[in-house]
Amino acid sequence: MSHKDLIEQIQSLKQERNAIILAHSYQRPEIQDIADFVGDSLALARKARETECDVIVFCGVHFMAETACILNPDRKVLLPDLNAACSLEQSCPADELAAFLAANSDKNYYVVAYVNCSIGVKALADVIVTSGNSQRIIETAPTDRPILFVPDRNLGAWTSRKVGREMTLWNGACHVHEQFTRDKVLECKAQHPGALVVCHPECQEPIRLLADHICSTEKMIPFCRESEAGSFIIVTESGILHRLRKLVPDKEFIGVGTEKCSCAECEYMKLNTLEKLRNCLRDMSPEVKVPEDLRLRAEKPLLRMLELSN
Ligand code: 13P
Ligand code: SF4
Repeated sequence: MSHKDLIEQIQSLKQERNAIILAHSYQRPEIQDIADFVGDSLALARKARETECDVIVFCGVHFMAETACILNPDRKVLLPDLNAACSLEQSCPADELAAFLAANSDKNYYVVAYVNCSIGVKALADVIVTSGNSQRIIETAPTDRPILFVPDRNLGAWTSRKVGREMTLWNGACHVHEQFTRDKVLECKAQHPGALVVCHPECQEPIRLLADHICSTEKMIPFCRESEAGSFIIVTESGILHRLRKLVPDKEFIGVGTEKCSCAECEYMKLNTLEKLRNCLRDMSPEVKVPEDLRLRAEKPLLRMLELSN
């Protein structure tokens, strides 16, 4: 089947099912191009909550589709490939977090969970954050309780420094962002003198120290558009390059490779393809469902986040 026919099939199935296609900025370019909305985790969570379509097709990873289910339980949520997992989510199993909290109950931790985590972890959290709002939300945290930040030690350390608040950090990380090395970034800077380095806070500290600006994927767009610089070295998953080039066409965007590959890709994000998107709209499957008792517990910290980041 030609690319054009596949696109037409997706468009007509979307109408038939009254579906909305949401895509994260790390999705393949062709998926971003057919999506009704492309964004970061925060923007996608907001969109999932407010949509009136019957079906949400979530082109992202599993925890994102799960978040859509938590926030909008009356909709059917489809994920083109159920194997689209996340190493950061896996670095904090809910039972390990529950055991840690039980063993440290005397500390009475205020648990802040980065949205890249399972519904079980969300249900144990006091508030959820994304990379786009972590500073703002932690600024509102109670000052009479110690903070436990899960699962990303890099976003946690960066936010802690920015806000000036000590936090206990869970020892988790994203394998894609942890692959960047100072050598690769320095090599790229040497090849592109004058380009600004923009990095995601999931990167490790030695990389963050090389950056001219650190922000979530969404905030990279206005930063690059409004900056006086004409070229940018982007240190995050390569999918964002398509979005940046599309939305800021007059500037140059350079991706940084890793020791293993010339560009940094999240293999989970890339599991979704146009064919799988068509198939899931056609078959109304795979569907992401969550148990109602857990959903109600996980909804509270998510709603707190949405309220605090308005
Ligand atoms: P944001 O798009 O929210 O910055 O998150 C990056 C990420 O790794 C999502 O999986
Ligand atoms: Fe998870 Fe990292 Fe992939 Fe984002 S890039 S989905 S944090 S594994």
